[in-house]
Amino acid sequence: MRANGPKEDVRDFFRGRRLRMSPAVRRMVAETELRPQDLIQPWFVYETNDASYRKAIGSMPGQFQLSIPQLLRQAEGAVTNGLAACILFGIPKEKDPEGSQAYATNGIVQQAVKALKKEFPELCVITDVCLCEYTSHGHCGLVRGEEIHNDPTLELLARTALSHAWAGADMVAPSDMMDGRVAVIRETLDGSGFSHLPLMSYAVKYASAFYGPFREAAEGAPRFGDRKTHQMDPANRREALREAAADLAEGADILMVKPAGPYLDVIRDLYESFDAPVAAYQVSGEYALIKAAAEKGWVDGPKVALESLIGIKRAGASLILTYFAEELLPLLK
Ligand code: PBG
Repeated sequence: MRANGPKEDVRDFFRGRRLRMSPAVRRMVAETELRPQDLIQPWFVYETNDASYRKAIGSMPGQFQLSIPQLLRQAEGAVTNGLAACILFGIPKEKDPEGSQAYATNGIVQQAVKALKKEFPELCVITDVCLCEYTSHGHCGLVRGEEIHNDPTLELLARTALSHAWAGADMVAPSDMMDGRVAVIRETLDGSGFSHLPLMSYAVKYASAFYGPFREAAEGAPRFGDRKTHQMDPANRREALREAAADLAEGADILMVKPAGPYLDVIRDLYESFDAPVAAYQVSGEYALIKAAAEKGWVDGPKVALESLIGIKRAGASLILTYFAEELLPLLK
């Protein structure tokens, strides 16, 4: 193609810049767009009688452990800014080897779900289903000796999910990585009148050092050992497809990959291999890295955060769990 006009000597190569010349055209040809409803904000709710409790999490600037009244205050601002969904983590007063506060009818997450749904019925309230914040040893399941016991843990996870459903949760998200937990949770929910309740599975969850700050936030670090016997080896890509296929077959509605940024290939693999929505969790360490560099003035925090999220979406995640959700919502309008 030649430009119009007689005398112009324009060489004939690909003119990629033509579609980048104005903000309007750039927007028209953008292939990926972050929307407010793509983002899910994680919140940490702390069991306390002190209504004003709002404790900053040192390694996650801008994130807090919140009492229920403070959580409601937080939600008010976020919902006003267009937040569509949140995921809740609880920090109970008491922990025991069986993690009984995880499935207590009046546990901290159950209370928080009730309070949130009453004030903000339109907010989608998702719950994290795991035992590690509730067990005294900090492991995701029942421990015998130094081993995490898979099958006896399943019933406790199912009780946890059911107690969240009773409290009014809109979606449950098992994060424990025990084998067979999606099947048992689905069966329990279906058998109790919750066949309509969606299940987002942490289907592909790696044993990641990027969870470090979360363990401060949720006070759920293992007292001994690690999570390598149930979470996946970061070296493995094909195994992710087997995990995802198993969870889909067991009844998962949404498949999650976690962490997100270092695992974009895995997000893309799931997107191409399955027709279920793919979610990705930009975890605490990914957040902390960006925040720390921004605090030092080394990068532009909000711009880097937005770019990290566009990358995750472009890879194939339609839902993104991110601690940046509240902060970035005003920029997405
Ligand atoms: C387990 C759980 C963890 C995270 C979410 N759910 C911690 C773990 O598996 O060790 C990590 C989230 C993050 O790092 O932001 N209940």
